[in-house]
Amino acid sequence: MQLQDILFSQGFGTRRICSGMVQQGLVVVGSDSVPCTDPTAMLEETGLEFRVQGEVWQYHAVAYLMLNKPAGFECSQKPSTYPSVYTLLPGPLRTRGGGAAAGVQAVGRLDQDTTGLLLMSDDGKFIHRMTSPRHHVPKVYEAQVKHPLDDRQLSRLLEGVVLDDDPRPVRAQACSAVNEHHLRMTLTEGKYHQVKRMVAAVGNRVESLHRSEIGNLVLTPELPEGRWRWLTASEVAALTQKVAKP
Ligand code: URA
Repeated sequence: MQLQDILFSQGFGTRRICSGMVQQGLVVVGSDSVPCTDPTAMLEETGLEFRVQGEVWQYHAVAYLMLNKPAGFECSQKPSTYPSVYTLLPGPLRTRGGGAAAGVQAVGRLDQDTTGLLLMSDDGKFIHRMTSPRHHVPKVYEAQVKHPLDDRQLSRLLEGVVLDDDPRPVRAQACSAVNEHHLRMTLTEGKYHQVKRMVAAVGNRVESLHRSEIGNLVLTPELPEGRWRWLTASEVAALTQKVAKP
C-alpha cells in the first residue's frame, strides 16, 4: 500500500492531508532515522510501525482495543453530563475509516460511575458477537455492596430475579461473596444497569462497580485507569471462539 493510503486508513486525515504530512517530513517508517518524504512509497502494511510527528503508531487493518475505563466518563459519542470515553483515545482511533460511523465504537456500555474493562473496535461483526445475548459471552463484575451479603441473596441472584422492564427472570451465571461487602458476579447479557438492578432486587445496593473480565480476557494492573492498548491477535481469537451455552 502507498504510505499516504496507509496513513489515511489509520485515521490521520484526508489523503491530501496525509500526503502533505509525508512531504513535510513528519512521517518516519519502521526503524528509519530519516523521514520518508514520498507519499506514494510502497510499503508492506502488515506489522508496520511508523512515527507521525514523533508518535509511534502500529498499522492495524481492523482495530481491537481495551480501555481501563475510569469513573466519571460516559460511553457515548455525545455525552450528556460527563466527558466521553472517546476523549481518552488518540484522534486517529476516533476518525479511522471516515464516513458517518467513523472510528472505533465501545463494545456495549458501562455506566458513567462503573470502572474497568471496556472493549472498543471498528469491526461491526465483532461488536455484535460480543454484545449479543445469544452468544453468552461472560462478563465478570466486582461490586462493593452496602449491606452484608448472605447465602439467600447469592442463591436468588443465581436462580434469577425479575426486573421491572421484562417479566422473564435474569440470572447470574456465577456469583460469590469475595468478602461480606464484595460481590463477584458473572453475567452473559448486558441489560441496562443490570448488576445494580439485580442487586437491588435482592435487597442490597451497589456502591461501586468494576468490570474485571470479558470472556477469557482479564483486565490486569499493567494497564492504568484511563489508558488503552491494542488487543493481541491471540486475544481477539480467544474472544471470538465459540463459548459453550451454559
Ligand atoms: N451493570 C450495571 O449496573 N452497570 C454497568 O455499568 C454494567 C453492568
